[in-house]
This record gives sequence, structure tokens and C-alpha cells, in this order.
Amino acid sequence: MIEIQHLKKSFGSHHVLKDVNLNIEDGKVTSILGGSGSGKSTLIKCMIRLLDCDGGKIVVNGRDISRVKDPFRLAAVRRHFGYLFQEGALFDSMTVGENVSFGLKYLTEVPVQQYEAIVKEKLAMVGLKPSVAALNPSELSGGMRKRVSLARVLAVSPKCILYDEPTTGLDPIMSDIISDLILDMKKKIGVTSVVITHDMHSAFKISDYIAFLHEGTIMMYGTPEEFRKTDNPYVRQFVDGSSQGPIKMKLMKE
Ligand SMILES: Nc1ncnc2c1ncn2[C@@H]1O[C@H](COP(=O)(O)OP(=O)(O)OP(=O)(O)O)[C@@H](O)[C@H]1O
Ligand SMILES: [Mg+2]
Repeated sequence: MIEIQHLKKSFGSHHVLKDVNLNIEDGKVTSILGGSGSGKSTLIKCMIRLLDCDGGKIVVNGRDISRVKDPFRLAAVRRHFGYLFQEGALFDSMTVGENVSFGLKYLTEVPVQQYEAIVKEKLAMVGLKPSVAALNPSELSGGMRKRVSLARVLAVSPKCILYDEPTTGLDPIMSDIISDLILDMKKKIGVTSVVITHDMHSAFKISDYIAFLHEGTIMMYGTPEEFRKTDNPYVRQFVDGSSQGPIKMKLMKE
């Protein structure tokens, strides 16, 4: 289990995470919902230590990882997590195969001779043929890019995968295929998943638990069923996707 306790993170005077408390259960899918700019990506970047938090704790297997400085221990923390970037973030100058084996080189002791077999196995896990390994990222569709990104994460066998908006920008069918893949990973390898999403259909389908991030704290945590039934007006507005309700969006006028 991962325990996030009283987590705080500001950018200058902008207090993005004010007091976030959340337990991530082992082997389950926890989705994080929240408006644009509410701090969802910031939260998972703090978890993987791409960002340093300003206060609070992130306890993984009984140890607070939020202040680890030692590079070896930090590498171990990062190995625990696989991170699927919001932007996909494949290296355009490398083939798909090189992208998928990238983490093996930097994060594991796996001998080079085994890379090809691992690439093939991980591509198969996300439903891609071995021939895709020779393609360049620029030759892939959006859905294939997401799947390749997932294969790259799977290659290093993380205990917990953090997905930042895995279905954004995909058509409804491809979104559903990605949702199925997330469930598949849970069933086949028992991985713990944290999924940031705006996609309510996907959230209801894949989640064991949902956390709603609002104004720097977790305003509601519960099962999909509890979210469907809730009369919390903030959550209701989000779940129903309505412009009318207590949540005021900050719109920028250019
Ligand atoms: N490195 C940074 N420096 C300064 N401000 C930042 C930085 N990263 C994020 N922010 C600010 O923190 C707030 C939260 O950003 P974050 O990316 O975590 O939101 P989000 O919930 O992931 O939004 P979205 O749904 O649009 O991806 C935003 O106002 C953003 O401008
Ligand atoms: Mg984000």
C-alpha cells in the first residue's frame, strides 16, 4: 500500500496541493479525478519524485520516500513505479523497440541479448505485433503510441503503474481498449494502478476506488458505486460533466 499523508506542493504562491491524504491499495486500480489544473499530474510527479513536495509524506512499503536524496535509493524508488506520461513521451529518434527496451538499459541488470525477447513479449501484452518494434514513433497512431508507452513501462516490471490521462485524445473504442488493458495488467500481473482521468466512462469501468481532487485536497474517496450515487454537488457536477454547479472554471481571456 502507498500512503500519501498531508502532502503539500506549491509553485511560488500558487498552493496546488494543500493537504492531500490518500491510500493506494495494493493490486487495485485507483483513479484520480479532478478539474484541469487541480494538481493531478503534480500529485503523481511527487509520488515518482520528479517533483519534490513541500510537506507531508509518501510512505511506500513502510518507508517515507518523499525526502530520499541518495541517488541509489532514489533509483530504487523510481523502479517501484512505472509512469505513463500525459504526453506519451516516446523518443522520436529511436525505434519502437529501442523505446521499449530503454528502461532495461538504465534501470535493470537485464543482459542486452534478452532485450529483443522482452520487447516482443511486452508488445504482445499490449496487443501489438513484433513487427511494430522496427517502426518509428512518428509512424504510429495515437492509440498505438499509448500502447507502446505502456509496453515501455511494463518492460521494467514496476510494482505500481501511474497513468496520466491514458485515454485522452483517443476515439471511444480505442479508449475502451486502453481501459481493458489497464484491467488486464491488474488481472495478469497484479500490478497496482493509479490512473488520472477525465474520462468518466473509463473511470467507472476500471476503478476499484476513485479519489476526487479539488482545491488541493481529496474531497471525496470511494467506490464507483458511491460516486454514481453521491449528492456532493462538486463531484456531481464533475461526474455529470455540467457547466452549471459550484465548480467555477478559471477561464483565461486572451
Ligand atoms: N513546474 C511547474 N511550475 C509552475 N507551475 C506549475 C508547474 N507544474 C504545474 N504547475 C501549475 O500547477 C497547477 C496544477 O497543474 P497540474 O499539471 O498538476 O494539473 P492537472 O490536474 O494535471 O491538469 P490537467 O488536467 O490539465 O492535466 C497548474 O495551475 C499549473 O499551472
Ligand atoms: Mg495533468
